[in-house]
Amino acid sequence: DWTPDAFVETTVRELQGEIGDDKVILGLSGGVDSSVAAILLNKAIGNRLHCIFVNNGLLRKNEFETVLEQYKGMGLNVKGVDASARFLEALAGESEPEKKRKIIGRVFIDVFDDEAHQVENAKWLAQGTIYPDRIESVSASGGPSATIKSHHNVGGLPDYMKLKIVEPLKLLFKDEVRRVGASMGMPTGILGRHPFPGPGLGIRILGDITAEKVSILQEVDAIFIEGLKKWGLYDKVWQAGAMLLPVNSVGVMGDERTYEKCVALRAVESTDGMTADWVNLPYEFLQKVSNDIINKVKGVNRVVYDISSKPPATIEWE
Ligand code: XMP
Repeated sequence: DWTPDAFVETTVRELQGEIGDDKVILGLSGGVDSSVAAILLNKAIGNRLHCIFVNNGLLRKNEFETVLEQYKGMGLNVKGVDASARFLEALAGESEPEKKRKIIGRVFIDVFDDEAHQVENAKWLAQGTIYPDRIESVSASGGPSATIKSHHNVGGLPDYMKLKIVEPLKLLFKDEVRRVGASMGMPTGILGRHPFPGPGLGIRILGDITAEKVSILQEVDAIFIEGLKKWGLYDKVWQAGAMLLPVNSVGVMGDERTYEKCVALRAVESTDGMTADWVNLPYEFLQKVSNDIINKVKGVNRVVYDISSKPPATIEWE
């Protein structure tokens, strides 16, 4: 019978045997999977695990600082690298979704590579890949149908890095990953987090990305997510977020005409992200959040709620 305690014990022993005295590099994303992988490896090899947490400038509001502190608090050997400017520069003017994904993936690898090279004699690259990542990745790239979206977190590093790959969670499903994290005493704040895509807000800003749009969307997203938490809805939803649409519409504020941006809120129920249903959030909640967003976020005068399920709509809009 599978239990998280037994999994931790066996995996730690196996990791110690496999890795020996080598150094391991791991990219933390702020998400559940890479965080649990890191804690597991930290238990096995301590500070010989070198974690790198990159700020791509497309994270949620205050995410980089907050999560970096949490990681340090859990005793991880982690370096935070703020590469926001590098990402925004590379993305400037690009609106095609797949090109945006590829740019974000490429810059991430460049930044990660620079950092990884500063860890002398590293032999291993650890990844928080879980079982469904492998399925989605295979079906999205190897199947008869064309690539749906290029996820860049599976098998993403250039060959010349010559690092051996270690993926301690590769046979687990998300709920098992959370149970493993809990059995190692990780904070529920980290374990209960919604999934968040590697390209971050970059694929939730439709059209081209600018620093201003990122900060508008961060504000909107923060109001939505904090609202979900306040109303006790956060844990009932599998994933939620906001999209900044490339649409201006006419509104009225006081007795002034406005012509501003529209945001879409999305909340879904799912088990693995492969299929998803939109969530029937209470109208009172949507009403409150919509008011807050329009009153507090400059540049937004309209909020809509996405009532599409996957398939045929995907969870992210790009
Ligand atoms: P879609 O939009 O394909 O999303 O229905 C399914 C799930 O995958 C997440 N997602 C990603 N996760 N890198 C990731 O780590 C990516 O490039 C990526 N694209 C989508 C999405 O947030 C949802 O949970």
